[in-house]
Amino acid sequence: MCGIIGIASNKPVSINIINSLKKLEYRGYDSAGLATLINNKIDEKKCSGRVEELEKILFKNPSDGNLGIGHVRWATHGVPNVLNAHPHSSEIVSVVHNGIIENSDELKQKLEIKGAKFKSQTDTEVITLLITEALKTDNPLESVFKTLKQLRGSFALGIIFKNNKDIIIGARRGSPLAVGYSQDENYLGSDSYALKSMTNKISYLDDGDLCVLTKDSVEFYDEDKKKINKKIYNLSDDKNTSDKGDYKNFMSKEIFEQPTTAKNCINEYIDTLKKDINIYNFPIQPKEINKIVLIGCGTAYHSCLVAKYWFEELTTIDVEIDIASEFRYRKLRFNYRNLYIFVSQSGETADTAAALDLCKKNKVKTCSIVNAVESTIARNSDWVLPIHAGPEIGVASTKAFLGQMIVLYILCLKLAKSRDDINNASYHELLDRFKSLPESIKKTLKIESSIQSMAKEFIDAKGSMFLGRGYSYPIALEGALKLKELSYLHAEGYPAGEMKHGPLALIEEGLPVIVIAPKDKYFEKTLSNMQEVIARGGKILFITDHKKELINENIRFGVRVPFVDTLLSPILFTIPIQLLAYHVALLKNCDIDKPRNLAKSVTVE
Ligand code: M6R
Repeated sequence: MCGIIGIASNKPVSINIINSLKKLEYRGYDSAGLATLINNKIDEKKCSGRVEELEKILFKNPSDGNLGIGHVRWATHGVPNVLNAHPHSSEIVSVVHNGIIENSDELKQKLEIKGAKFKSQTDTEVITLLITEALKTDNPLESVFKTLKQLRGSFALGIIFKNNKDIIIGARRGSPLAVGYSQDENYLGSDSYALKSMTNKISYLDDGDLCVLTKDSVEFYDEDKKKINKKIYNLSDDKNTSDKGDYKNFMSKEIFEQPTTAKNCINEYIDTLKKDINIYNFPIQPKEINKIVLIGCGTAYHSCLVAKYWFEELTTIDVEIDIASEFRYRKLRFNYRNLYIFVSQSGETADTAAALDLCKKNKVKTCSIVNAVESTIARNSDWVLPIHAGPEIGVASTKAFLGQMIVLYILCLKLAKSRDDINNASYHELLDRFKSLPESIKKTLKIESSIQSMAKEFIDAKGSMFLGRGYSYPIALEGALKLKELSYLHAEGYPAGEMKHGPLALIEEGLPVIVIAPKDKYFEKTLSNMQEVIARGGKILFITDHKKELINENIRFGVRVPFVDTLLSPILFTIPIQLLAYHVALLKNCDIDKPRNLAKSVTVE
């Protein structure tokens, strides 16, 4: 992960570097640092912890160079401390890095034999010392090319040089890197979001590319050192949505934005006049599709799991789902009649992007369902279905998950209709039921105070379980993931029917067990599984849309969400599990938007 920024300008750059690093903190927040060139010297400032700390250091001791690089770190090699914070500088060169150098130990040994001294435990420092060595005989560009040839692994780099005070060199292999253009100023950044407050003109480096920036020019080279041109994109303007307004944190804002997320998504894809879905240009004719393969990581994977149930229910298409980090290494039989769908909020997740590349190499058709439409995954896929959720800043994915489910459901309906798997009447009826979804989400959000009370049941808990069947099984997994991620409390998500095959052994007196039980064909079965938990002392927290009396001597706490439709239940039942994780984390005083050890965009393997 990690975020990098570089600015070449005709005025001091450190304030803009700090502002951009604040935007990049979603990529990592273990430590931060910057280096600028002042009086023919590399001036490096670093801290452990957040960018705020770096800002304090700069306040006391400003760094006023006109060219500089900055970094926020998500630790891979070496603990998060000042020594391991980036940039990593020698006397003559300074480097920021996102990614992992897989052969760093081997390179380090070779450099040590030649007398090099390492100050940190990072893999990045080998890059600094290799370039330093190469600069003895070569110019900066040649030294970087020479160094890159020796590296295995993934990287995005920003490099400045003491003796070439006008240039920043950027390079990319595996990890994303963008260039931004402005008057008398050019930029390097891990993504366009970090550059948006300074410019809306962006180019993206492809794998193997290198760029040389000055304040007035940008040159691009491919890995064969050939000069190349890059397309310049104009970014859309969504600055207004990346502010937390009156909310305590981004996560609560994003949870409460979900009626709007649903509305935007529905408006984009559903033509209410024609009573049809605006999805065209399928990369494979719907009737020709043999199988759909859905791929994602974490929460995005859970939306794939929900979609599997929808596709199986409404279409005759076979569906397979996979976690991207597994998919990319499986021995797969690719089929040109399969549609491979990649789901990702950021569109930059390394494993998902690599799984997509694998499909492209095998010449099969790809579709991406993404929030960030300017992302690598969106740019690299044959067909893009945006989720229109607006920037999601909280590390825990909430509104993007809801948007992913909605787009997947809409795609499923369109395919079902286009293949004649459902008739006109059912199609229109299902579309119609969908219209009330934003309002139902709004009503569901009103249960917040009940969830707040439910959250108290977790204060002394040693762990917890989330149970559901059918559409509620992926929501149980998502509930457990959210709780782990935000409150650091151990949580397991299980299909309720699977308990007796092992996990029941975990149930002991007072263990909180969240039972997700919509009024569907599984309802009675879920209640039976719940009885098995009650018999062993589990503390039941029950979430349903059934009219049934909620509280009895066995159910410690009950919450009712509005009933819409069985097919849409996973979308509505997502709200209580998000609110629950949020309120448990709040009670435990956890950092809601930046949970420990995590990052928003996972750009390493
Ligand atoms: O950006 P992506 O949707 O590809 O990210 C995938 C996961 O890293 C992400 O969903 C992660 O699991 C969330 N932090 C969960 O809240």
